[in-house]
Amino acid sequence: MTLKQISSSLFAGLILFASASIPASTASAAGAGKETACTPKTLPTIPEQKWSFQGIFGHYDHDSALRGFEVYRGVCASCHSLNLFAFRNLSALGATEDEIKGVAQEYEVPAPPNDEGEVVLRRALPSDHFPKPFPNVKAAAAANGGAIPPDLSLIVKARPDFEAHIPKILGGYMDAPAGCEVGEGRYYNAYYPGYQISMAPPLSPDAVTYNDGTAATVEQMTTDINNFLAFVAEPKLEERKQTGFKVIIFLVILTILLYLAKREVWRKVH
Ligand code: HEC
Repeated sequence: MTLKQISSSLFAGLILFASASIPASTASAAGAGKETACTPKTLPTIPEQKWSFQGIFGHYDHDSALRGFEVYRGVCASCHSLNLFAFRNLSALGATEDEIKGVAQEYEVPAPPNDEGEVVLRRALPSDHFPKPFPNVKAAAAANGGAIPPDLSLIVKARPDFEAHIPKILGGYMDAPAGCEVGEGRYYNAYYPGYQISMAPPLSPDAVTYNDGTAATVEQMTTDINNFLAFVAEPKLEERKQTGFKVIIFLVILTILLYLAKREVWRKVH
């Protein structure tokens, strides 16, 4: 390498480094915001969560995610849709075909229009998506004091705090600081942007009964619903990580073989 080449590659490296660090610094500046009477003095601590799905061997905690499905359908589903989730997706968490059929049968979905052009309801099948709680956005807003409960299919991926978002929102309810006026039908939440959320704290102890006998504390349900929603946001994560690992092993072996082949081919020259 000539001096010029070295300096230009150093320059390119610097640019890369700078561009990688810019978004991080603007993000933290945007998060700071202005202090108001409503800015929480102390933040409620969110129990530290250990995510089984991080790292190269990441996988979901299947039992927890299946319990989370119970929390979703028992509590959250009355307001939040889960448009990207079909009953058969539960098989990736180890639910059997019969179990999935049984769960789907408890729900009704609109059938294709009949000969009179009427849409009647039929029992859901494993291939059906989870039915929406409201027929349209206006109905959702009308039932929730004007606020629209967002679809939860991708919520874990769609918020900057990722896996921490659900525990923060569910654990962020507290008394408003003195001087902070909370609007009607709104609740003070230290982690929600603006600190006021139009969702009443949805979880209370024993809001659901778990089949496996796990005690349904608020903390347990928070972990479980979060595992479930992380799974819904990326159902193929386990497959992706396993394939990635196999590809790396393959590339390592290929590299060794290529190196040995190269040595053999160039044996007489070196
Ligand atoms: C009674 C209706 C209702 C129930 C039940 C409910 N929610 Fe909500 N949820 C809402 C509404 C309405 C909003 C929008 C709040 C706003 O705009 O201020 C919301 C907002 C949220 C948000 C914030 C979304 C964002 O934009 O970051 C999360 C997360 C959330 N809900 C999760 C849940 C979970 C998990 C459950 C079940 C344990 C649940 N909700 C149960 C009505 C509900």
